[in-house]
Amino acid sequence: MRKQIAAANWKMNLTLEGAQGLLDDILKEAVQPGANQQVIFAVPFPYLMMAKERVTQQGYAVAAQNCSNKKSGAYTGEVSVEMLRSIGIDHCIIGHSERREYYGEIDEILQQKLALCLDHGVTPIFCCGEALDVREKGKQNDFVREQLEKALFEFSGSEMKKIVIAYEPIWAIGTGKTATAEQAQQMHAFIRSVLAEKWGLDVANDVSILYGGSVKGANANELFGSPDVDGGLVGGASLNASEFIQIIKALKH
Ligand code: 13P
Repeated sequence: MRKQIAAANWKMNLTLEGAQGLLDDILKEAVQPGANQQVIFAVPFPYLMMAKERVTQQGYAVAAQNCSNKKSGAYTGEVSVEMLRSIGIDHCIIGHSERREYYGEIDEILQQKLALCLDHGVTPIFCCGEALDVREKGKQNDFVREQLEKALFEFSGSEMKKIVIAYEPIWAIGTGKTATAEQAQQMHAFIRSVLAEKWGLDVANDVSILYGGSVKGANANELFGSPDVDGGLVGGASLNASEFIQIIKALKH
């Protein structure tokens, strides 16, 4: 059965002190994830070990927000998947729209990162989603299908089962403008149908598809209530303990 996931994406926010305080505030509430639920904190690189030490006891996981597309070697400033694995990190966000847009991460690079994650037993949280102009033209399904094809279609069904997908419409990221539950459900069902076409229903039904884009405490229940929305990848609201706790509580069981 696929997992229901609340994933925090802190992006480039918080000092060490702020990060420790936020985690401690969330841990105080001690929300126990159910058997098919997962809570993940994607924190900046310098806080990975601190976060891992703090949250593991509660049954929560920690993710990196990015990794190198190279295995190892002379790549100043890069962080390899092997390094992440060596400090016990087993999740990594790949292909966030901010990385695609500001750091030129094209499909080929994303494919390389995904392959390295899969080789090292790190679960990729692969992001996709269209910009506003694409949606206004009604081309969002074609656009997302192409993103999936270009980054994921070289992998086998058993590899695909190890990947989490996050649908994050760019027009909803950090804008306060959330996709309606209906828009999210439609796209998630479409993504699942693309996976089913390529790898079969067994694989498609096993992949968690998260929604991202202005998720907050007040809309999480409605969004996560849709059958194909398996939780969320949360930016802004994940920096607020009570908001994120509410989001965790909104996960389906
Ligand atoms: P917001 O929740 O701030 O809209 O960000 C979404 C996001 O980009 C998560 O990866």
